[in-house]
Amino acid sequence: MTRIVHTSDLHFGRPSVSEQLDCMEESVRGLTPDAIAVSGDLTQRCSAPEFEQARSYLERMREIAPVLVIPGNHDIRWLGAVARNLGLFGRQAHEFKYSRYFRYISKDLSPTLEVPGAVIAGINTAHGISRGSLTRRFRDLGVIGHVKRRDVEEVAKAFEKADPDAARIVMIHHNPVKGERTGRHGLANTKEALRSFSELGAELVLCGHDHQEAIHTLESLEETAPGLVISTAGTISNRVRAGRPSSFNLVETTEQDMGITTYSWKTGAFRPSKQRVFRRASASGRV
Ligand SMILES: [Fe+2]
Ligand SMILES: [Fe+2]
Repeated sequence: MTRIVHTSDLHFGRPSVSEQLDCMEESVRGLTPDAIAVSGDLTQRCSAPEFEQARSYLERMREIAPVLVIPGNHDIRWLGAVARNLGLFGRQAHEFKYSRYFRYISKDLSPTLEVPGAVIAGINTAHGISRGSLTRRFRDLGVIGHVKRRDVEEVAKAFEKADPDAARIVMIHHNPVKGERTGRHGLANTKEALRSFSELGAELVLCGHDHQEAIHTLESLEETAPGLVISTAGTISNRVRAGRPSSFNLVETTEQDMGITTYSWKTGAFRPSKQRVFRRASASGRV
């Protein structure tokens, strides 16, 4: 069995809750995962002190298992995004936009991790105000993300290189399925992105951004991406949706099945609160 802890939206800075972060670290240690996937929004205001805290927390997590991390919309610098969109400063604007992420977290915005039984291809969907993420909904301007064609090609390469039996997983920051409470999509090009992932053989998409945990399946995605499961991790912070606790997800895959369990914050601990198990599409061909 391969175990992947999927957490998101830690929002270091004012929203972070150290008791929950400490507790999650202990819970994750106890779950003995093979990998830890962090789907963006490490910070609240993209400040250097917030990134320092995020980096030291990720270092603690790396003592438990390999960590795969991507940026979220809170982790990029606005001026760079605007300058880039206006065609000013070109490459420099790009460097500025991600400069703190590059400095404190990683130079790689779309990293890949393979562990026995699974390959996870991370894609950066946080581009700020940019052509691919334009929306008529003003309040979503600069918040919404998109999947770039070039990054889909990188996922294809990562999947080609991976062990044929490894579960194919894509990680993005923005939620491709509407949040239950927000009623908002995170991605500007949802259908196209999900279809591409599905065509590449992805079985699971990990995402965050909505701050409400969810497990979506093929029933709701039949038209665009049959067979795809979506794990949305909630937040570990006080930026929770009304009435929802902080939470993270655990993905467990075997050759036959893929299970997702949500661990929610309740009376001082993270406890399993919801679980769904799916038969893997690839399992039907196996003897
Ligand atoms: Fe967030
Ligand atoms: Fe976000």
